[in-house]
Amino acid sequence: MPNTPMKAVIPAAGLGTRFLPATKAMPKEMLPVVDKPAIQYVVEEATQAGIDDILIIIGRNKNNLSNHFDSVPELEDNLRNKGDEDKLAKVQASSELADIHFVRQGEPKGLGHAVLRAKAHVGSSSFVVMLGDDLIDERDPLLTTMIAEHERTGATVVALMEVDPEHIHMYGAAAVEETGTDGIVRVTGLVEKPSKEDAPSNLAVIGRYVLTPSVFEILARTEPGKGGEIQLTDALQELAADPDGPGVHGVVFSGRRYDTGDRVDYIKAIVQLAADRDDLGPELRPWFKEFAAKL
Ligand code: UTP
Repeated sequence: MPNTPMKAVIPAAGLGTRFLPATKAMPKEMLPVVDKPAIQYVVEEATQAGIDDILIIIGRNKNNLSNHFDSVPELEDNLRNKGDEDKLAKVQASSELADIHFVRQGEPKGLGHAVLRAKAHVGSSSFVVMLGDDLIDERDPLLTTMIAEHERTGATVVALMEVDPEHIHMYGAAAVEETGTDGIVRVTGLVEKPSKEDAPSNLAVIGRYVLTPSVFEILARTEPGKGGEIQLTDALQELAADPDGPGVHGVVFSGRRYDTGDRVDYIKAIVQLAADRDDLGPELRPWFKEFAAKL
C-alpha cells in the first residue's frame, strides 16, 4: 500500500477499430466481459491497490463511459420498488467505487498524447496508468508490486510479460538486465511494435505503468512515432536511456491477463472468467466440455 495513495489514469479514448462495428458508438472499454464492462474491472483493480482517485481519458462516445459510473435514480427506484436488492447493489456498486474524473482527448493522437492530457489532474506526484482494455485477474495482483518497486527505487515501473515471439510486433518490447531481485529487471531500452527480428526480447510491455511526473515534460516534446501516434513507449525509452535518472524497472508478470481489445483474447476472457464464477461456472463448465469435444 503506498504511503500517499497515487492517482490512477485510465486512457479510454482509442478508436477501438478492431471491434468495429461494435465500437462505432461505444468505446471498447465498455464492452461487457460477462456482465460488467471491461473498464469496471480495471477501476476495481485500482481500488484494491488502495487508489481512490481515478481520471479516465475519454474520446468520442464519452457519454457511455461517464454514465456507467454515475448513479441512475430511476433504475435504482425501480429495483428498490421491486425489492430486487441484489441487482440494486450491482447498479450502485459502479457509482460508489471511487472518485472518478473525466478529461477529453480531443483527437486520438496516441497513448502518449492521452497520458499527457492527465497532467493538470495529476500535478507533481507519481501516478499509475492502467489501460482500460487490459484486465489483470484479481487473484494475481500486479499493481501493488509495481507501486512498492517505485516507492523503493523512485524508478518508473512497467509491467512486462513473456509473449510468443510471433506476437511481439503487437506490443512495446523491452531490452532488460537482471537487478538481482527475482521478478524485477532493469529496462535498458524499449521499442514500440518491433518486428520479430528487431525485438530486443520477447518481454512485452503490458497495460500497467507507474510513472513519475517527469514523463509529462518528455511527452510534450515527443514527436509522433510508430503509426503516426505519440507513443508512451518513446517517452519511456528516453527515461530508460537517461544515465542520471532513476531509470525504468520492469515487474515480470506471469499471472492471468486478458486483453479485451483483441477479439480472440476478448472471447477467451469471457469464457475463462465465466467458467470460474460460482453463479455461472457449474452450468457452463460441462457445456464447454461437451462443446469442445465436438470441435
Ligand atoms: P490501442 O492501440 O489498443 O487502442 O491503445 P485502439 O487504437 O483504440 O485500438 P484498435 O487497434 O483501433 O482496435 C491502447 C490504449 O490506449 C488508449 C486506448 O483506448 C487503449 O486503452 N488510447 C489509444 C487512447 O486513449 N488514446 C489514443 O489516442 C490511443
